[in-house]
Amino acid sequence: MADRLDGKTAVVTGASSGIGRASATRLAAEGANVVLGDIDAERGREVVSEIEADGGDATFVAVDVTDADDVRSMVETARETYGGLDIAHNNAGIEGDNDPLPEQSRENWDRVLGINLTGVWLAMKHELPALMEGDGGAIINTSSIAGLAADGSEPYVASKHGVVGLTKSAAVRYAEEGVRVNAVCPGVVRTPMVERSLEANPGAVEAITAEQPLGRMAEPEEIASAVAWLASEDASFVNGHALPVDGGKLA
Ligand SMILES: NC(=O)c1ccc[n+]([C@@H]2O[C@H](COP(=O)([O-])OP(=O)(O)OC[C@H]3O[C@@H](n4cnc5c(N)ncnc54)[C@H](O)[C@@H]3O)[C@@H](O)[C@H]2O)c1
Repeated sequence: MADRLDGKTAVVTGASSGIGRASATRLAAEGANVVLGDIDAERGREVVSEIEADGGDATFVAVDVTDADDVRSMVETARETYGGLDIAHNNAGIEGDNDPLPEQSRENWDRVLGINLTGVWLAMKHELPALMEGDGGAIINTSSIAGLAADGSEPYVASKHGVVGLTKSAAVRYAEEGVRVNAVCPGVVRTPMVERSLEANPGAVEAITAEQPLGRMAEPEEIASAVAWLASEDASFVNGHALPVDGGKLA
């Protein structure tokens, strides 16, 4: 599998941390050139250095996924640096606040939907023409088990259901252009996002672990493995799918 993505170019958003970091690292390990986009430039550049130290090729671009110019420049970087685009992992996301609905702020709603849903739409808007310019390719959007069931606050669950809808709609429309569009729906993954909320809730680790059929959370690399498969020709007939990678939590 080491060269499964040889000669391909990928963009990954939210690539400085957690799932995006693991995905960028895995795609590069499988041979892809990777453009990492994130608002956290310091950690993003660290990930680039790690990928380069392992013999991979990667470039960091400061990207706020809610900003059209940033997203355009991420796709342009893939074109200019590596000659095109084949794979896009639209992954940046935030959890937002978990207040009872009547107490939720409009600001939180706009921020969660803006990053988690509009950010994915904006990325696809700029990635699709670049993918179609070449031989097509694969888009993988990070949804969540919260995109398939009520697992979290209303804004987060709505945003992640929206990502599944966006994925399915574009999958059907762009299949003939050679672009497959799928979503990964992780369960609970040990990333800084989850660690933040666990720190705020003593006892939560035990409670969450007890709910998992496999008796543990996922590691980010286990989500990255599914992303790399969906990006590859091994998944050549998988399109419009929302793939739970949840250890059986939704089963
Ligand atoms: N960790 C989990 O249990 C879990 C489960 C299901 C889905 N997810 C989803 O996976 C994705 C990654 O989450 P994670 O757990 O790795 O979180 P994380 O907080 O570790 O990483 C998220 C990354 O996104 C970046 N980011 C945030 N806002 C951004 C913006 N506006 N533009 C560009 N980058 C931005 C952050 O700087 C960070 O590097 C998210 O979409 C999240 O909703 C996570």
